Amino acid sequence: MTLAAFAFAAIAGAAFAGKTGVPETTLSAPATRDDLSAEDKARVEAVTRPATDFTKAERFEAKSGGAATSTKTPDGNAYSHPSENLSFADREQFFVGNGIFKKLWVSSPSSTAASDGLGPLYNARACQRCHLKDGRGHPPGPNEDGITTMLLRLSVPPSTAEEEAALAAFTTTRIPEPTYGGQLQDHAVAGLDIEGTVAIDYEEIEVALAGGETATLRKPTARVENLGYGPMANNVMTSLRVANPMIGLGLLEAIHPADIIAHADPDDADGDGISGRLSLARDPESGVLTLGRFGWKATTPSVRVQSAEAFSGDIGISTPLVTDAFGECSIAQQVCRDMPSGVQERLGEVEAPDPILDLVTFYSKNLAVPERRDVDDPDVLRGKALFYEAGCASCHVPKYVTSREAENEEHRFQLIWPYTDLLLHDMGDRLADGRPVGSATGREWRTAPLWGIGLTETVNGHTFFLHDGRARNLLEAILWHGGEAEAARNRVVTMSPTERKALLRFLESL
Ligand code: HEC
Ligand code: HEC
Repeated sequence: MTLAAFAFAAIAGAAFAGKTGVPETTLSAPATRDDLSAEDKARVEAVTRPATDFTKAERFEAKSGGAATSTKTPDGNAYSHPSENLSFADREQFFVGNGIFKKLWVSSPSSTAASDGLGPLYNARACQRCHLKDGRGHPPGPNEDGITTMLLRLSVPPSTAEEEAALAAFTTTRIPEPTYGGQLQDHAVAGLDIEGTVAIDYEEIEVALAGGETATLRKPTARVENLGYGPMANNVMTSLRVANPMIGLGLLEAIHPADIIAHADPDDADGDGISGRLSLARDPESGVLTLGRFGWKATTPSVRVQSAEAFSGDIGISTPLVTDAFGECSIAQQVCRDMPSGVQERLGEVEAPDPILDLVTFYSKNLAVPERRDVDDPDVLRGKALFYEAGCASCHVPKYVTSREAENEEHRFQLIWPYTDLLLHDMGDRLADGRPVGSATGREWRTAPLWGIGLTETVNGHTFFLHDGRARNLLEAILWHGGEAEAARNRVVTMSPTERKALLRFLESL
């Protein structure tokens, strides 16, 4: 850690939110491991030190998710197993949660009252429709009409002092497009117009690599068609996102804030060209300003909040956290607000009351990270050394020991290997979406966790990577890196073909 990061951490830790009802705008999170004894701290420091010996695998390296790692044979269901250290009773909860994650919601009124409330505007009828096999989404194939497992986020720059203040105070992460809201819904219940459809155009870019090899990258541009509610604002900003893989999320939530703060170096005080900024996010339940961890820009503070936002924005289902039964219909879409809702008095004031949101959250937090393969293979070890040498590990931070005070017992005090710092990095012009949200600028993205990435093809049948699925394989994903990651990317360009192969072998073993 750098000195600047240390000073910053001290300030961050000192601030505490919510004295006067005015939202605090400093981070409320401990900047030191307040969950550990001195003895524990020394143990944690020893096991999380960066690797130096690449002649053999590290201890416990294959167990990417600690005791929660799934040791089942890695097949097409590799992302769908529960944390292996769940109690019998908790496994039951997990399977009930799985049912809700897969459940197809229907429009109201309907005879299956418990599944009522779809839409009126929506993107998909179930969580699983986008998070296919609990894995990631993909861009549309040549024969697919529109996007199926992706979202197009929308917003406009603030235009009033009030909007600017709301953004500065993190009471909102973005100003929605006045008619279409925060995302484009490409489905609607019968009798209502959809908001529009999304098509993607690609432009090809050739990259020459050392050793006479070449790669071709394809740069996507989203095109919105069939607008159902009139023109969009001229200054609309859009961001195309594929659904993230769902594994290991409870463990990411269990990383102690101090371990995230420790890697932040907002002014690049150590001069390594890599800064890394904290993403701040307001927790709608506690009102506290905490760390954002989820989504491609780390705008969401917890799996529970992300799930509630998905219920509302993606499926049109209200929950105790996002209570509008009409989902994302804006005030400019009154016809949509007037459609019947799925609220039933016997269940409470929302379409998916707390047991439902809790169960989906529990499920989402306990999809296990699969065990690694081939950790001892000489090519994999060579690739791992190159991963460190190229500077990948500066952002894709290999390991942590999770907090002893994590919400769920199965996530506590585990040595995990997620390969992320959960920080925001400027990834350069080529990856920029030009759409700021929460703490993130239009050039910043959260370091994507790499655990389990080698099984993408096994589970999802494709190898499309990055936030909009533009990369068609792992090498292309690396070649798109720019900005703070430019030096690491360039190192990969100059590697010999054998070295590049070893680096990819390492990633495939994750
Ligand atoms: C229409 C497709 C779609 C549906 C339906 C959907 N998601 Fe997602 N999900 C996404 C996309 C896209 C992202 C990335 C969002 C972003 O970066 O803004 C995401 C991100 C997430 C994340 C964050 C994962 C991470 O690594 O940060 C969680 C958790 C999640 N979704 C849970 C759910 C749950 C629970 C449901 C059902 C209630 C659901 N999603 C329904 C598309 C979808
Ligand atoms: C400056 C920080 C940084 C460095 C250095 C860096 N990465 Fe990344 N990496 C990111 C970010 C941020 C993303 C997400 C970008 C996006 O989706 O647009 C990412 C995404 C990826 C992905 C795709 C993950 C997914 O789920 O789609 C792979 C693979 C990857 N990085 C590998 C590497 C390798 C290998 C190196 C070293 C050669 C490296 N990265 C260096 C920050 C970094």
